[in-house]
Amino acid sequence: MSLREKIIQEIRASGPIPFSRYMEMCLYDPQHGYYSRKVEQFGRAGDFYTSSDVHAVFGRLLARQFEEMWRILGSPERIEILELGPGRGLFARDVLDWSEKKFPEFFGALHYSLWEQSAGLQAQLQVTLERHFVAGNASFPQGLKLPLPDELHSAAEAVHARACATDAAAASSVPVIVFANEFFDALPVEVLSPWGELRIAEKDGRFVETWVPATTDSLAYLGGYSVHAEDGERVETACIAQSYMTQLAASIQQGFLIAIDYGYTRAEQLAGRHRGTIMAYRKHSVSANPYEAPGEQDITTHVNFTALAAAAEQQGMEVEPLLTQSQFLMGIGERNQFADAFDDCRLPQERAKVALQLKHLVTPAGMGESFHVLVASKGIAAEQVARLSGLAFVSRNKR
Ligand SMILES: C[S@@+](CC[C@H](N)C(=O)[O-])C[C@H]1O[C@@H](n2cnc3c(N)ncnc32)[C@H](O)[C@@H]1O
Repeated sequence: MSLREKIIQEIRASGPIPFSRYMEMCLYDPQHGYYSRKVEQFGRAGDFYTSSDVHAVFGRLLARQFEEMWRILGSPERIEILELGPGRGLFARDVLDWSEKKFPEFFGALHYSLWEQSAGLQAQLQVTLERHFVAGNASFPQGLKLPLPDELHSAAEAVHARACATDAAAASSVPVIVFANEFFDALPVEVLSPWGELRIAEKDGRFVETWVPATTDSLAYLGGYSVHAEDGERVETACIAQSYMTQLAASIQQGFLIAIDYGYTRAEQLAGRHRGTIMAYRKHSVSANPYEAPGEQDITTHVNFTALAAAAEQQGMEVEPLLTQSQFLMGIGERNQFADAFDDCRLPQERAKVALQLKHLVTPAGMGESFHVLVASKGIAAEQVARLSGLAFVSRNKR
């Protein structure tokens, strides 16, 4: 049975389904879901690029930032990095390899946990990071109780009910750095319009959109962090992303959180932008139609950073003003003129190629302005946090 048939069967059995359920099945159905089915989604031959596909310098700069965080925390004997949605593990590999080479003391204290729900990608992670798995430097988290995608369904209520279940990696007395690159944009959302909340029905084997009155969760989300859609518009509510952030932030006793993604703030929505941000990606082409080829295309949304920041703050985290990826990477890299990027270049042509890749990560024309960085901390003095080089570019240019 194809995924389309499976979704239609569910609609016939239990009635129109929320968009979040549709998105969840398309991306995470254990058999046919986009992220379960294949591991070649990423990179040149796949459907999209992420920063780690561009060049190892992304992971290397972040390794530099993580090492600084560890020193700010007083160079503890042990530190945990928990990466959410690590995909194929290129970022983790770049961080671990660079830390081992350049920051041996930090590397000696580091354990790297990989929170990846796709069984196919978990297998790939064990290959990419084999050396680090064998040495015990990397593993899948033990006992971390975040809700699994197939438990989420549309029911943000069900997620809320489990909201306090998180423990293990993040909640231990070991300081933790939670890192997420393009994780929150891959979590299922609801879609709202002036007609209400979207449900997916079926007619003659085709998906049809219908609308029901918005749930209280969605209305509370719109009222708190977003805007109500006007005629002809749609907006998304990301209650599942919100629950993840709540659980993570609650479980951190001392440490940092960095979330990088393309996204927006409520202020930008109030100015009329970022309304209806659902996008589907296939072979590097973008479509606004999520109903085409279920399971074969990636479906993403822009991230509501106002909502994520609020969830972190409600759990006692200090959230820094939102940065662009450009500002963040400039802050980390400019002190040594991005030496991390050019370390293995021997020939001028190699340097020229790497310079272009770096430019793509940092400049507004590439990923530098469309991607934003949320930095939050807990249990660390504000003046210590302010020393992070990732925050330096903005603070210096404000003076
Ligand atoms: C867009 S990819 C980003 C991959 C990687 N961070 C990168 O930058 O290349 C999103 C990743 O999040 C994973 N993911 C999505 N929902 C998840 C969940 N609830 N728990 C764990 N991993 C999840 C997907 O399987 C996928 O690997």
